[in-house]
Amino acid sequence: MTQSERKIRSLEELGISTTILKKLQEMGITTLEALAVANPQELSQNLAIPLPTIQKLISQARMALGLSFKTALEIKKERMSLPKITTGSKNLDSLLGGGVEVKTITEFFGEFGSGKTQLCHQLAVNVQLPIERGGLSKKAIYIDSEGTFRWERIEAMARGVGLDPDKVMENILYVRAVNSDHQMAVIEELKDLIPKENIGLVVVDSVTGHFRAEYPGRENLAIRQQKLNRHLHQLMSLAELYDVAVVITNQVMARPDVFYGDPTTAIGGHVLYHAPGIRVQLKKSRGNRRIARIVDAPHLPESEAVFVITDVGVRDPE
Ligand code: GTP
Ligand code: MG
Repeated sequence: MTQSERKIRSLEELGISTTILKKLQEMGITTLEALAVANPQELSQNLAIPLPTIQKLISQARMALGLSFKTALEIKKERMSLPKITTGSKNLDSLLGGGVEVKTITEFFGEFGSGKTQLCHQLAVNVQLPIERGGLSKKAIYIDSEGTFRWERIEAMARGVGLDPDKVMENILYVRAVNSDHQMAVIEELKDLIPKENIGLVVVDSVTGHFRAEYPGRENLAIRQQKLNRHLHQLMSLAELYDVAVVITNQVMARPDVFYGDPTTAIGGHVLYHAPGIRVQLKKSRGNRRIARIVDAPHLPESEAVFVITDVGVRDPE
């Protein structure tokens, strides 16, 4: 299916009867996205509608969202045309293949002070830039699990890119996640909020903190991993279905004994290993310099980028 054929944008436009629409609404299915990923058996039972009819509806929703078969060329065109958000550093942008991409999870991982939170702040500002300046002209959602969000930094970074600080702050929807269950519940809420608020970026800083604290040690590893996988899956479908960039952070302790080889062997590093997306390792360097490196991305070159954290935000070194 080509882009031009994808005109249906709501359940109403699928031509569903109002009675069924109402029942769907009662079940919390108010968008094409929600219908596309609904369980057909469950729907069929709850709505007392034959399974084949439901299956047809679901497949129409999927077609409308472009979730059915595509040619490789179509995929290429789609990926190439995906908008990107600038990080503020050209070096880092080119390492990422142009910037932080929508429909993708980008993970920044590294030790304390490596710049994960600063990058999240910067992206929450930069997503608001017009497209010609490397933004999406959209708002950001900031889910803070560690209490390290600082409006002062947003204000400074907004000034740094020449945007009105108050407007920029108004366009960042902030929520403090108090535990892992809350963090997951917040993501569920986003399914309504993203289309309503014109969101282009969802930040989760950090994605792992609560899970680590609540399920400590080796003995809890399996359950922690299971729950975290569910969370990542939630985030993946957000990115894919709602056309947003998802940026997550993960604190990984540096292991002085491991200089080369797989950095994900660092403590807690394996958590996100199996989730698709782009993983960027951040390392502290001299002064305000930071080094970024892409990990496990077969389609991107193995190289490094150097950026700096300044008073006005993330930049290239002088
Ligand atoms: P953890 O959350 O502890 O794992 O660290 P992190 O990777 O999130 O580090 P973060 O992004 O918070 O980086 C902190 C660093 O950013 C500080 O050590 C400073 O070097 C730099 N930084 C933070 N605020 C400012 C500021 O206002 N001006 C300047 N020049 N640098 C800042
Ligand atoms: Mg941080």
